[in-house]
Amino acid sequence: MCHVFRARSRDDGREIAIKLLKEKHRNEDRVIDLFITEADLSLMLNHPNLINTIEAGEIKGRYFIAMELIEGVTLEDLIKQVQNLGLSLPPDFGLFIVHQVLEGLNSLHNFTGISGRELDLVHRDVTPSNIFICFDGRVVLGDFGVAHIRAYGGIDSSVTIGKLGYLSPESVVGDDIDHRSDLFSVGIILWEILCGSRLYTGEKESEIMNAIAEASVPDLTQIRPGISRTLADTVKKSLARKPQSRFENCLELSYALRPEWSTELASQESIKALLAGLFRDDFQRWAAKQDHETIASII
Ligand SMILES: Nc1ncnc2c1ncn2[C@@H]1O[C@H](COP(=O)(O)OP(=O)(O)O)[C@@H](O)[C@H]1O
Ligand SMILES: [Mg+2]
Repeated sequence: MCHVFRARSRDDGREIAIKLLKEKHRNEDRVIDLFITEADLSLMLNHPNLINTIEAGEIKGRYFIAMELIEGVTLEDLIKQVQNLGLSLPPDFGLFIVHQVLEGLNSLHNFTGISGRELDLVHRDVTPSNIFICFDGRVVLGDFGVAHIRAYGGIDSSVTIGKLGYLSPESVVGDDIDHRSDLFSVGIILWEILCGSRLYTGEKESEIMNAIAEASVPDLTQIRPGISRTLADTVKKSLARKPQSRFENCLELSYALRPEWSTELASQESIKALLAGLFRDDFQRWAAKQDHETIASII
């Protein structure tokens, strides 16, 4: 639906990202509605692990969202690059990334409007391509394009929204969904990060949807022998078919994962070092720009 441009702010000269609704959607009310909801939500949300929105609006009939520019890669890029090199992501790094995502997602789920009313937000598209790993080691969740405000009314369950391989069983069968649907998506990401392969894939969409609806999960300890029983059980619980059998919320899942990774091994600094090694050219270009900006601010 959108183009995303690298741009420069006229206010302070810094680089930003602009998400612009495509020209062809200019007169489509439903699409415009979705985009304005994304803009409103993005402007309200404020958390270090969620993409920061600077401004949103409409100029000459074109709707836009101006955001902080993320310089880095998506989790999808990171997983692919690790695989291309025939490596696997150390579990501590993967769990650190998921921990950061859960912090952001928790703030989204608990967000209350200015009036104090609980909005009961669901992101609905928690996927590796919407998780950004910045070159400075920060992890942020973005793309609130299909986020749903449950407090405003039910979801139209006749349309499945979100990336197929990361949907929850309740969303593929068209049941009502709540924040626990996002927790299932996090469960898929956890499983994939720890295994180094996709959980729900298939030739046809219907195959993927059936696999998700059954929520069959191969035992992690069989696939990656180094994984502890408790970690495998935690992942399994986050992938329970029934929402009430999963973790209640992001914090509960986060607490369960906490003993499984070390802050000495995985931190913002070590993620930065990992990206420097995996994406050398892009990282160096980014680092050179940081040096230049630092020097320019001194001279
Ligand atoms: N703030 C940002 N900074 C840098 N790149 C971005 C930013 N927002 C989006 N992008 C890029 O644009 C792509 C699409 O943006 P996204 O918000 O996920 O929209 P959608 O998936 O709905 O098209 C992202 O995968 C990323 O490559
Ligand atoms: Mg996206």
